[in-house]
Amino acid sequence: MEKRWWKESVVYQIYPRSFCDSNGDGIGDLNGITGKLDYLKELGIDVIWLSPVYKSPNDDNGYDISDYQAIMDEFGTMEDFDRMLATAHEKGIKIMMDLVVNHTSDEHKWFIESRSSKDNPYRDYYIWQEGKNGNPPNNWDSNFSGSAWKYDSRTDMYYLHLFSEKQPDLNWRNTKVRAEVYDLMKWWLDKGIDGFRMDVINMISKVEGYPDGEPIPGSKYGNRLPYVMNGPHVHEYLQEMNREVLSKYDVITVGEAPCTSVEDAIKYTGFDRQELNMVFTFEHMDVDSDNTSKWADKKPDLVELKRVFSKWQTGLNGVGWNSLYLNNHDQPRMVSRFGDDGKYWKESAKMLAVCLHMMQGTPYVYQGEEIGMTNVSGLRIEDYQDIESVNFAEDRKKEGWEEEKIRTYLARNSRDHARTPMQWNAEKHAGFTAGTPWMAENQNYEEINVENSRKNPDSLFYFYQKLIALRRKNDTLVYGDFRLIEEENPDIFAYERNLGEKKLIVLCNFRDTAAEMKA
Ligand code: NOJ
Repeated sequence: MEKRWWKESVVYQIYPRSFCDSNGDGIGDLNGITGKLDYLKELGIDVIWLSPVYKSPNDDNGYDISDYQAIMDEFGTMEDFDRMLATAHEKGIKIMMDLVVNHTSDEHKWFIESRSSKDNPYRDYYIWQEGKNGNPPNNWDSNFSGSAWKYDSRTDMYYLHLFSEKQPDLNWRNTKVRAEVYDLMKWWLDKGIDGFRMDVINMISKVEGYPDGEPIPGSKYGNRLPYVMNGPHVHEYLQEMNREVLSKYDVITVGEAPCTSVEDAIKYTGFDRQELNMVFTFEHMDVDSDNTSKWADKKPDLVELKRVFSKWQTGLNGVGWNSLYLNNHDQPRMVSRFGDDGKYWKESAKMLAVCLHMMQGTPYVYQGEEIGMTNVSGLRIEDYQDIESVNFAEDRKKEGWEEEKIRTYLARNSRDHARTPMQWNAEKHAGFTAGTPWMAENQNYEEINVENSRKNPDSLFYFYQKLIALRRKNDTLVYGDFRLIEEENPDIFAYERNLGEKKLIVLCNFRDTAAEMKA
């Protein structure tokens, strides 16, 4: 297998709003990140994935961009960005930016023009359709509740928004839209950034005609997924993007790709396909969701988790590349979800790290994972801030759900668990800000924080440091084949990695008691 630096790297994701606030306004910022680069250097990571820092009205915390070539006011200035990039590079750390181009903010100038009249030159930058008998053009719902179509009285038509109303979808069929995207990508790459994480990139091509989806039992909406995921032209667009932009730079690329099979992922990441380096897939994140929704009250099933990982490990081996993650800004904390955030907090967090990092692919560490940050407990419904959680709670209330049930679902699945401030020390607000944090810190910060972790040689921080260093010295870990052992063992996740004569065996006990293997 061809050796490439992005296969050998470990990526650290920063959610800037919650990482480190340097100016006391309660919101993390770029200077805060620059001040923590030595910490990340010490951890040993190679690449930072920066969640969006572009200008945004923050309907979805920066995933709604109103200017791709400007920095969000709360995060600082372009000079701050340039300083952060230069300092990271001096320390040998690369920066991968989030590229959110399935949609923009409704406050982006393209959309303001587009909605102003039917013959505006930007009209066709977005997806406009006539309503049907006073109703939206079809029965699709959006990812953040409600119809995926919003009526706009200015032109008496509807626009498509697969996320919130303030995130209108771009029309990728329009060659001008694609050219704009390629230009802004080049602008950032010429500045010196090292790659892109591409937000829901497998949703950019929609099926023509916008047909109604199959009715979803218990819902007034239809299933939009077959018409928006991995659509008819997605590979053509990505190959064009690669030809026009990516092939001209030595960069790392990862596409977020929900509802993607191994066969799809081989198309996105195949070594001979000239599309992306890797994708974030979701099948392993769905082991505790129900069939149609992420919202569920289910415990993950280990045998199922192993089956899914094994399928992806063997399916992409030698033909494409996996990304490895159990956490990000959209997922609950891994130690609370798959491990034990009580008695065996440290042990189970270490075990999960080993289980993930020893597989084939590029590992991703989400801020705070390296010190074992956990879900927040005891939140009231009104404490949740994320648009997805807020809309979920409102809809369920309207449907008559008991408050207790809504709280249980939020406590399991809300994205807010990942977004509480980074816990730096045991001082006020966990050392994240000198002001009032935009979101309350997790109350366990006096125990779980960076300072404590760095004082204790047996801590998670040093464990991650060793794990990351081990990968660097060990080709079997990066390039070796994967083979699952004892698929049906309900307690232990065991696998081999093989490269030439070298064999590595990884044994992970997911239980709080001794567990046995037959072999
Ligand atoms: C996926 C991102 O990770 C998530 O945070 C965001 O809300 C949606 N895409 C919409 O951009």
